[in-house]
Amino acid sequence: METTSAVAFDGRSVVDYGIPCSELIVRLPAAGREFGDVIKYSELKTPNSELKVMAQNNFLIQVQDLKKYFYRESFFSSEKKPIRAVDGISFSIRKGETLGLVGESGCGKTTAGKSILRLIEPTSGQIFFKGQDIFHLDREAMRKLRPHMQFIFQDPYESLNPRMKVGEIVGEGPEVHRMIQGYLEKTRKVSEILEKVGLHPQDAQRYPHEFSGGQRQRIGIARAISLNPELIVADEPVSALDVSIQAQILNLLMDLRDQLGLTYLFISHDLRIVKHISNRIAVMYMGKMIEMANSEDLFKRPLHPYTQVLLKAIPKLDPSQRREETLLREEHRPMPSDQGCLFQPRCPHSRERCQTEEPLLLNEGEDHLVACHFVS
Ligand SMILES: Nc1ncnc2c1ncn2[C@@H]1O[C@H](COP(=O)(O)OP(=O)(O)OP(=O)(O)O)[C@@H](O)[C@H]1O
Ligand code: SF4
Ligand SMILES: [Mg+2]
Repeated sequence: METTSAVAFDGRSVVDYGIPCSELIVRLPAAGREFGDVIKYSELKTPNSELKVMAQNNFLIQVQDLKKYFYRESFFSSEKKPIRAVDGISFSIRKGETLGLVGESGCGKTTAGKSILRLIEPTSGQIFFKGQDIFHLDREAMRKLRPHMQFIFQDPYESLNPRMKVGEIVGEGPEVHRMIQGYLEKTRKVSEILEKVGLHPQDAQRYPHEFSGGQRQRIGIARAISLNPELIVADEPVSALDVSIQAQILNLLMDLRDQLGLTYLFISHDLRIVKHISNRIAVMYMGKMIEMANSEDLFKRPLHPYTQVLLKAIPKLDPSQRREETLLREEHRPMPSDQGCLFQPRCPHSRERCQTEEPLLLNEGEDHLVACHFVS
């Protein structure tokens, strides 16, 4: 496969904006452009641009240059300093595909997941759901779209109202969105969903606290699928569970994906879990996307030094082989710098250029994207 190096605009690779080069090569002639043309980013932003339309049929969701900054008061000055929780990430997910999003605590995974569903308002960027620009949708239009995009939380207990019975929790969404009418239809719908997630119809009469952690996550999943969504953002859905239960919930998520044709953004800090369920994996570091590839390729051929460390840090049975884990400990976390590579203070391969020039996410072949000046 060709790389995107010849197709660039404004000095940045097309893949920075979430458009795999294979799509671009196929569709360039339709847009009256040739491979190798310099395409300006402003052209992609034009509403009717063929160049933008090209990718919309193939992807359920496309995210381009998404940013979410939080502003916190500083004790020492009146100036509010931004926390760049998500700092210009781009990716696309095809229908039926699972994209795993990994990275250590605080790198911006949850913020990214919530921003693309607009559960929190992004600072800037573009989000297309089935080709529709949802970044600028007003509250009412977003409310109508909401059933199509659901979120599964890490701690189902915190996200389940303890005063509501399971039947009310699972039936609430379909009722509010007028997908069902009347008591009988609601009972039927709730029973059907509970069975789909491995619970009993009678469980509808019980409260969340009467269930185990794994069962509570099943209730969270039941609530998410109750609205027949197409996209689910699952934020660490098994992290709070025992290892033996994790596998059951992962299998359930995979079964539902196949049965219902779901598309997932699967967030986790655990690469082993992400590998199990994902077709592709994206690695985040300090609000940026630093590597993205299909799961097998990422594990066989991690290109970014941070991904290499993450893979080496996967717990090993032999304690003598645990040396790399220390690299990931909190005390090694550097302060973010404004220029250069964010990983530079921790990178064993750092050179002078890394201190002054930020590496862009570029295609190193086979749609394996990496942001590093010195890919080995
Ligand atoms: N509401 C908020 N206000 C201010 N800062 C926030 C807010 N939410 C998140 N942050 C900050 O944004 C950064 C990213 O947080 P986020 O929760 O997205 O990380 P994460 O990768 O999901 O971490 P974890 O693996 O621990 O869940 C962190 O520095 C966090 O402190
Ligand atoms: S750009 Fe430089 S500092 Fe950053 S990961 Fe690559 S080699 Fe390391
Ligand atoms: Mg999180």
